[in-house]
Amino acid sequence: MYEKIQHLSKELEALIVTTAQDAEELRIKWLGKKGYITVLFDEFKTIAADQKRSLGQPLNALKNAAQEKIQALRHATVQETVATSADCTLPGDPQLFGARHPISIVRNEIIEIFAHTGYTLAEGPEIEDDWHVFSALNFPPEHPARDMQDTFFVRQSDNAVVLRTHTSSVQVRVMELQQPPIRVICPGRVFRNEAVSARAHCIFHQVEGLYIDENVSFADLKQAVLHFAQEMFGKETKIRLRPSYFPFTEPSAEVDVSCNICGGKGCNICKYTGWLEIMGCGMVDPNVLEANNIDSKKYTGFAFGMGIERIAMLKWRVRDLRLYFENDVRFLAQFTAVV
Ligand code: PHE
Repeated sequence: MYEKIQHLSKELEALIVTTAQDAEELRIKWLGKKGYITVLFDEFKTIAADQKRSLGQPLNALKNAAQEKIQALRHATVQETVATSADCTLPGDPQLFGARHPISIVRNEIIEIFAHTGYTLAEGPEIEDDWHVFSALNFPPEHPARDMQDTFFVRQSDNAVVLRTHTSSVQVRVMELQQPPIRVICPGRVFRNEAVSARAHCIFHQVEGLYIDENVSFADLKQAVLHFAQEMFGKETKIRLRPSYFPFTEPSAEVDVSCNICGGKGCNICKYTGWLEIMGCGMVDPNVLEANNIDSKKYTGFAFGMGIERIAMLKWRVRDLRLYFENDVRFLAQFTAVV
């Protein structure tokens, strides 16, 4: 048996193959059910115990060598097949690029416009407590926004936990950590208990801004909003401010931009008014500054907030808000050219 092992070892060393099929045949001949190695092992079982001791080691070595060699031969033929069948003159497979989601595109654009005028970015949690969403922002205890009709509650109690209804909560977090000058924008996802329709959704995205320093005036607010509107919708865009109400700003205003579709003449997008509403804004209420330990005698500030979906709808004339959430690739693929 020792001679057989010796003989096979030599034979093994000399083995060569050219095709994958040859390699497979060798595998069966050597390592298959009736292969040389298997037969030797069967024979090994029948020999005397003292012989086993001296033959076990070389037999195992032969088995390992055969496995390695045949594996190497198979590998070599596979590589060869790949190398010889590749046609280097063929054009490459096209690389299909995905598109950024339109909401991300517009969010990035808004962030960039404000970054150019010195705003930094702040983010905060989507699950918030009552203080950051309502109390620190001067919402009276009986304000309807605190009602379940408008707000999703995670826990309803004296110290309620809610899904934030606006990213003004992040502005509160910034004021907690920082004294003026503050110039910050807060993008993020917000939640309101609304029936889903073409114009409203229970989840949407906002960018809110806050600017607090000495001598900040309503004129500064107007200029900041005008600059944003013209960067976003074009240099010829006009704005108008209508008086409004928010608990955290006084005075408060609603901002309209001239309709970029009809140029202000009136169309069905602007409902024949020539104007499109884009955001809320106002001077930060002194109560809010005081609640956040900022001296309201020394500092004033303005805040604004807009829905990203709304801006994106006006930019691309998307008529149904739900398209942003359905992730239909036929809709999303239309934004591949936009970065
Ligand atoms: N937080 C307001 C909203 O969600 C928007 C806003 C922000 C209004 C700042 C005025 C000032 O509707």
